[in-house]
Amino acid sequence: MRDHFELQAYDAGGRLGELTVPRADVTVETPALLPVVNPHHETIEPGRLEEFGAEMLITNSYVIYGSDEVREPALEDGLHELLDFSGAIMTDSGSFQLAEYGEIDVTNTEILEFQREIGSDVGTPVDIPTPPDADREQVEREMETTQHRLDAAADFDAGEMLVNAPIQGATYPDLREQAARDAYATGLDVFPIGAMVPLMNDYRYGEMIDAVAGAKRGLGEDAPVHLFGAGHPMMFALAVAAGCDLFDSAAYALYARDGRYLTVRGTEHLDEMEYFPCECPVCSAHTPAELREMDDDERTKLLAEHNLHVSFGEMRRIKGAIRQGNLLELVETRARAHPTMLDGYRALLEHVDQLEATDPASKDAFFYLSGESADRPEVRRHHERLARVSPPAELLLASDPDAHAGADAAVWAVEPPFGPVPRGLDQTYPLTAELPERLDDRAYRAAARGITRLAETSDADITLVDDGWPASALDILADSVDRSPASGE
Ligand code: GUN
Ligand code: ZN
Repeated sequence: MRDHFELQAYDAGGRLGELTVPRADVTVETPALLPVVNPHHETIEPGRLEEFGAEMLITNSYVIYGSDEVREPALEDGLHELLDFSGAIMTDSGSFQLAEYGEIDVTNTEILEFQREIGSDVGTPVDIPTPPDADREQVEREMETTQHRLDAAADFDAGEMLVNAPIQGATYPDLREQAARDAYATGLDVFPIGAMVPLMNDYRYGEMIDAVAGAKRGLGEDAPVHLFGAGHPMMFALAVAAGCDLFDSAAYALYARDGRYLTVRGTEHLDEMEYFPCECPVCSAHTPAELREMDDDERTKLLAEHNLHVSFGEMRRIKGAIRQGNLLELVETRARAHPTMLDGYRALLEHVDQLEATDPASKDAFFYLSGESADRPEVRRHHERLARVSPPAELLLASDPDAHAGADAAVWAVEPPFGPVPRGLDQTYPLTAELPERLDDRAYRAAARGITRLAETSDADITLVDDGWPASALDILADSVDRSPASGE
């Protein structure tokens, strides 16, 4: 049944895939960014979006439905003609207006029919976007309504149109998981994670990741996941690593209108810039001072173009990183740009088991870039591997095994953050890691966890040569591990 989404490569929880959209007769490469087009307020003409790299866009069918101006042309000529866009078009349903104004004057079935009639390629039922921090009863009640709407959408004759099955659940990861499991069971096609905009607006990236991780637990691998309303390029890599495949950006245009300039490290304000730190055509041809002199429409258009260029540039960078196996290095780099992004990355690493499930066994060299690297899935996997090896009965662990060549015991290297390196494995991923000379305590603590794992899953007598190990790491070593001071130092 679900053959419209094919996965091609993984890195951590991130995936490269192809979403086939039958009604548009196109295949969209994921991770994909869908620019939001407001038919009344086209900052950049949709016909030009393909120049930036857009294969798909999203627009709001409820806005079209309620508009005397565009409703008839949309019904008559179709959405692709109306917007002059030949790629795939996803439509939203008015749920956002429902959340904002408390009601909408259309039923679930009416708006689904309308989406089908105007030629939408991916339609959306009317889900209830329950805000973060709502009490549990409200969340459960509204999830039930959403689920009824999804069931109705699954029974609806959508023809070739794919149908979204939005996942709600506010800030309760277990409810997100349940909502996802129920949404997946409908057999619908694409799975947007909803009501995330208020979290993202408040920079609550840790909770965003916990909600995404919850939803991912309830979905099958073959489910394309859309992070509804996520348009800031700063967080794309993080969300992709958590397993999101589709993004939509209204930010490129909304931010441009009040002079905000997107970068992969955050948002800057045109009024405060002297130089453009970007290689796009807009930033190469103009200075901030020139843009400030322009009239509002011209400036907004150029800023929106820049915002789109950086957003699509980051998507390409992410796709390349998945191919090369260094997506987590990219996430780690982005996490350094803002403390709230660091929260997001740390939250992601708390779901290391989920990441490990799809993380490839071998990639290019692992780069240790900060203390967070010590908690990456590769370290976890090495520790699991240690639980399965049979070490020699007497084992000496030393950072420089050659210095102990004459020892009675067998000698293995010990390498933070991985821990014991069984003979013969030192040239295999991830033990070929590039590490800084000056390691932090977190790397030693991760290595101590590896040693403890080996000690607890074998009968070996293990001795660690603890040359310079920090107390915080030695404290978590299993009691059965002996310690030997470094010899000759
Ligand atoms: N756009 C941003 N968030 C949401 C959501 O939760 N539901 C729908 N339908 N659209 C959205
Ligand atoms: Zn630029």
